[in-house]
Amino acid sequence: MKPYLIAPSILSANFTKLGEEVDNVLAAGADVVHFDVMDNHYVPNLTIGPLVCKALRKHGVTADIDVHLMVQPVDDMIKQFADAGASYISFHPEASQHVDRSLQLIIDSGCKPGLVFNPATPLQYLDHVMHKLHHILLMSVNPGFGGQSFIPQSLEKLKQARALIEQSGFDIRLEIDGGVKVDNIRAIAEAGADMFVAGSAIFDQADYQAVIRQMRSELAL
Ligand code: DX5
Ligand code: ZN
Repeated sequence: MKPYLIAPSILSANFTKLGEEVDNVLAAGADVVHFDVMDNHYVPNLTIGPLVCKALRKHGVTADIDVHLMVQPVDDMIKQFADAGASYISFHPEASQHVDRSLQLIIDSGCKPGLVFNPATPLQYLDHVMHKLHHILLMSVNPGFGGQSFIPQSLEKLKQARALIEQSGFDIRLEIDGGVKVDNIRAIAEAGADMFVAGSAIFDQADYQAVIRQMRSELAL
């Protein structure tokens, strides 16, 4: 497995000073910026679009931006986010009419593609597309909101996804999103995740560096 990556979800950041928040969390040791896009259609909430991604790049953010699309339809947003400076783009397969085509659009746009699985979405969507994936994102909460509790069944699903990755022989990151905290990150890593999204666990604390350090020390145990 590759080195662990910590990806703060800016959903829980202070949006009145987003550039500063992203600078601070990266300076505090974060690896990747997780960017949650919600459309009030695929999920019952409305967040941010490509303009905000572009503004972060203009502000000087050079870290990878991990765009998590919770939108339907999917394809229109791919090109726009690629042009806005996204590094990774993932989408929910049941929100796309043509999963292979959407993945190929991401690749052709120069970004790294991922598929996202809700807690009750079967991993069968991985069949036939593993060779195109840079990452698999398992949701450990139902999508739409930050600050929810980790769904324990996600650990078993992580193990299954990790086994599928090993069997495939491809180099695919396994990302987990929802309810990740200092006190469960080790169990989540043991179940097979190597990339950790954390929103409220980081942004609800005053000292981002302290939280990220605690997470890394749990991962090193
Ligand atoms: C939920 C989002 C998550 C969320 C994570 O739909 O995809 O990225 O912001 O937030 P926490 O870490 O607070 O569960
Ligand atoms: Zn997310």
